[in-house]
Amino acid sequence: MPSVFIKTYGCQMNERDSEAVAAQLVAKGYSLAPDERVADVVLLNTCSVRDLAEQKAIWKMGNLAGTARKQGRDQVLGFMGCMAQSRGKQLIESLPDVDLVLGTQKFHRAAEYLDALLSGQREKIVDTAEEAGSQAAIREHLLTGAADKKSVTAFVSIMQGCNQHCTFCIVPFTRGEERSRTIPDVVAECRELVARGVREITLLGQIVTSYGKRDYPAKDGKSAFVQLLEAVHEIEGLDRIRFTSPHPKGYGDDLVEAYGRLPKLVESAHLPLQSGSDRLLKLMHRGYTRERFVGLVEKLRHVQSGMGISTDIIVGFPGETEADFEDTLSLCRQVEFDLAYVFKYSPRKDTPAATMPDQLSEEVIEERHQRLLNLTNELAAKKYEALIGSTQQILVEGPSRRNPARYEGRTRSNKIVVFPGSERHRGHLMNLRIERTGSFTLYGDPAVVGMESEENAPSFTPHPNDSPAPAS
Ligand code: 5AD
Repeated sequence: MPSVFIKTYGCQMNERDSEAVAAQLVAKGYSLAPDERVADVVLLNTCSVRDLAEQKAIWKMGNLAGTARKQGRDQVLGFMGCMAQSRGKQLIESLPDVDLVLGTQKFHRAAEYLDALLSGQREKIVDTAEEAGSQAAIREHLLTGAADKKSVTAFVSIMQGCNQHCTFCIVPFTRGEERSRTIPDVVAECRELVARGVREITLLGQIVTSYGKRDYPAKDGKSAFVQLLEAVHEIEGLDRIRFTSPHPKGYGDDLVEAYGRLPKLVESAHLPLQSGSDRLLKLMHRGYTRERFVGLVEKLRHVQSGMGISTDIIVGFPGETEADFEDTLSLCRQVEFDLAYVFKYSPRKDTPAATMPDQLSEEVIEERHQRLLNLTNELAAKKYEALIGSTQQILVEGPSRRNPARYEGRTRSNKIVVFPGSERHRGHLMNLRIERTGSFTLYGDPAVVGMESEENAPSFTPHPNDSPAPAS
């Protein structure tokens, strides 16, 4: 059977989509190639959020096509995901070696289309059409992590699309209108994952706080998303729940209160700020003010003092003045994020911001980017250092990505802790004393550890749907 290699660009949603496509192909008899050079099929799962991400994937495809030609190999090459959706057949026009362009509502068709291409039934396929119900089609899991061992954590897609239309953002065009899966459907998938040994689930969507708005009316003051959290929380054997990406304006009191009430909902929130200037927030169509954002952070920290708060910030949005930028700096000083992803503004096709006046020069954007990074890194380092000497609960995920001789897990507040562990720790909740910090990493002391009792240890009973190891 043919082998496939999938390379993923971009966010966790993309990682999840790639995993689902890989699982689907493996179920149809494909194998996962260890390397793009030996694969019969190479798929690039693309990101459109910034131009750089698109350029990287286009460059990569040109490279793949060149190598395949030089070696006289008949590789099937495909783009899928966000850039496939936004550029469609134009990708084949500019890169004629590309055989497949698979949009964001078509991941479940990958096997069918690849079969047709490999058997020579069809020569080129572009499918970027909308498909009703496609949000519920991303459900297969591989669940194999490092060293072919079972994953302890898993992503579950709960909704697709976004109706917010922030003026800088291409996502509504690439992912479409908001469509949610049903609560029973999501819960069933989570249950199955837990039965396969998963102990932490991250609920995913482009704007999860808008989950189920149209389908589930608020009940006892609880939004559809909080109702979903409660339903997932009921699952026995599940230890931790996370979610991403939310919108700050979607954090109603019901969600803030859920952090205090649902022990499996860990103390971690990603709150994309984008800017600290009210003037820019308005131009960005974000739907909150600086004051409301700061108020939300305060509320969350009031409910859970150890709340880890991460954010996304854009520098160089059209018209951003030095004073606007200073507002962002001052908000960061005030809030002290645990982690900030800082992005240089990138004009995106069909978005209102792309044609706004006063687009900033690259030099200004670069300079602000550096200044903000310096500040957010310095503030984050302080947050990490403040944890030295404290005891943190971690869920052990496997060998450390930085140093495979060690093991790592995450704190409830979403910080990586590296410690001298072994395979028997995988999947366990442990209490570690934090000894020192590195760059966005904590180091735990193995001498002062507590591990939950063996009876609670997860059983990794092979599941009938289990698939061979992924090729990473
Ligand atoms: N330019 C730069 N950054 C962007 N993001 C989204 N669109 C753009 C853009 N056009 C950032 C936002 C978002 C994150 C996923 O990517 O900060 O939260």
